[in-house]
Formats: sequence, structure tokens, C-alpha cells
Amino acid sequence: MDEVEVTPYELLGGEQTVRRLVERFYDAMGRHEPELARLHRCDENGQVCRESRDRFALFLIGWLGGPDDYVNQFGHPRLRLRHGRVPVDTAMRDAWVRAMTRALDETGISGPVREFLDRRFPEVADFLRNTPG
Ligand code: HEM
Repeated sequence: MDEVEVTPYELLGGEQTVRRLVERFYDAMGRHEPELARLHRCDENGQVCRESRDRFALFLIGWLGGPDDYVNQFGHPRLRLRHGRVPVDTAMRDAWVRAMTRALDETGISGPVREFLDRRFPEVADFLRNTPG
């Protein structure tokens, strides 16, 4: 019998949890990491805008093994290229990871999928560094 592989997306509980995580991530960024939030398109209250939230949510859904709507709508993620205009140094990398860790805590994500995300998010954030310091 073929082995059935459970995706991180399924372990998280699907789209609803991913969208909750993304909302908490950008809310935490707006509250605690204003320098990082300012690099994003923000509304008049300094909160990261709806369009950016939705694009990141669609990306995460696909990246975690769910439906590939992001790729179908926007093409290959090419994360380094798409962050080319964004100066990512170690301070911004660490701010991003802090906001994500808060969001993972607030969303109550634990167990093996949390261990996976605690390893993978910092790796991707480090890979996106493009500015000394
Ligand atoms: C390392 C620190 C990071 C910084 C400073 C950063 C910053 C940004 C900024 C400024 C944008 C543009 C959004 C806007 O204009 O409102 C963006 C978009 C995006 N980021 Fe990051 N990001 C970081 C890490 C990550 C990581 C680790 C991931 C993936 C796990 C990621 C995935 C994305 C995606 C998918 C988009 C949308 C791209 C698009 O469709 O145009 N970012 N990021």
C-alpha cells in the first residue's frame, strides 16, 4: 500500500488556521516590530494592508502542502527575487522571526508541526538576507 503523507497544512487544520496565523503575524508585527511593518504596504493606522496579508496567506497555504492558488495566480514564489527591493539584514530577519514566533504562540500551534515551523521559518528568513549587518 502507498504511504499516505500528511502535510503540515493538514496537521495545522487547514486554511482557517493558516489565515488566523497570518492575521496574528501581521498584527504582532504592527504592534511590536514597527520598523519591519513600515517596509510593508500599510493602512493609515500602520497595520499591514489586506492585500499583503492575503498574498502571504495564499503563499503559506501552498508552501505548507495545501492548494497551490498562490502559484496559479502569481507564478513561482521566487522569494529572494520578490524581496529584492526589501533590505533584509540580521535585525530585520530576527524581527520577522520574532513576530512569527509570537503569532505561532498566540495561534496555539504546538507539537511536531510547530517543531517543523520553528526550524523552517528561520531558515527561509535567513536565506532572504540580502543586506550586510
Ligand atoms: C526575513 C525577513 C523578511 C522581511 C523583511 C520581509 C519583507 C517583506 C515585504 C516588505 C514584502 C512586501 C509586502 C508589501 O509590499 O506589503 C514581503 C512579501 C512577501 N514575503 Fe516577506 N519578508 C521576510 C521574510 C519572509 C519569509 C521568511 C517568507 C516566507 C516564509 C516571506 C514570504 C513573503 C511572500 C510570499 C510575500 C509576497 C510576495 C508577493 O506575492 O509579491 N517573507 N515580505
